[in-house]
Amino acid sequence: MVARRLPFPLTLAGDGIVLRDWRAEDLDDLIDLLDEPDIARWTPMPSPFDREAGVAYLKRAHQGRMSGQRLQLAITEGGGRPLGEVLLFGIDAGLREAELGYLVGARHRRRGLAAGSLSLLSAYAGTTLKLSRLLLRIDPANTASIAVARRCGYTLTGEAPILQVGPHGPSSLDTWEQLTGHPGSRLDRLKNVAARRYGRRT
Ligand SMILES: CC(C)(COP(=O)(O)OP(=O)(O)OC[C@H]1O[C@@H](n2cnc3c(N)ncnc32)[C@H](O)[C@@H]1OP(=O)(O)O)[C@@H](O)C(=O)NCCC(=O)NCCS
Repeated sequence: MVARRLPFPLTLAGDGIVLRDWRAEDLDDLIDLLDEPDIARWTPMPSPFDREAGVAYLKRAHQGRMSGQRLQLAITEGGGRPLGEVLLFGIDAGLREAELGYLVGARHRRRGLAAGSLSLLSAYAGTTLKLSRLLLRIDPANTASIAVARRCGYTLTGEAPILQVGPHGPSSLDTWEQLTGHPGSRLDRLKNVAARRYGRRT
């Protein structure tokens, strides 16, 4: 069964990456990471991302964690200073789906941090949270984010683009998905349907 409340606190680690909860003392690093043109362009972050925005962001992150509704974890190497963020939110317990998101500070890009962090969180979502379908919403022009999605095994769905109007004008977001492989997942059910229809190949 999909957990009703997400665990807090939470640390996930693998391949040198440690995902941990945000802390109040991360404020200066958070502002440094998020006040950046690519993050303004591709995410709904306020721009400029100033101290006021940072304080509000950490407060909302903490509330979301305390209420158990979202995972919002700082990407670190060894649990130290934050280098980016990875999120899981919008859980639909009935459909066993949730959306994930990620960003990495400009100075820390192209080192595998986004792909490593998304892989860690996706694995946790499938195995521990028992979610069967993980979603990413990506602007088709965001080549970096698409590369991360592909590297982590997400595939583009044929779902209608989600239209939105932002400071850069109208844009649309494609839906990417990963079907997790745990028992009872949608992938598992599809395999079972195929096996019943066509016979199991061994
Ligand atoms: C998208 C983003 C998170 C990528 O972070 P990153 O840590 O640099 O990504 P990784 O180092 O894990 O790279 C993973 C793959 O993406 C590729 N990639 C990363 N940045 C790229 C770029 N600018 N152009 C093309 N490919 C890129 C890497 O080469 C790697 O590909 P590979 O598997 O073939 O080696 C980062 O650029 C970012 O924070 N952008 C702004 C926020 C954003 O767009 N978030 C996603 C919203 S949907």
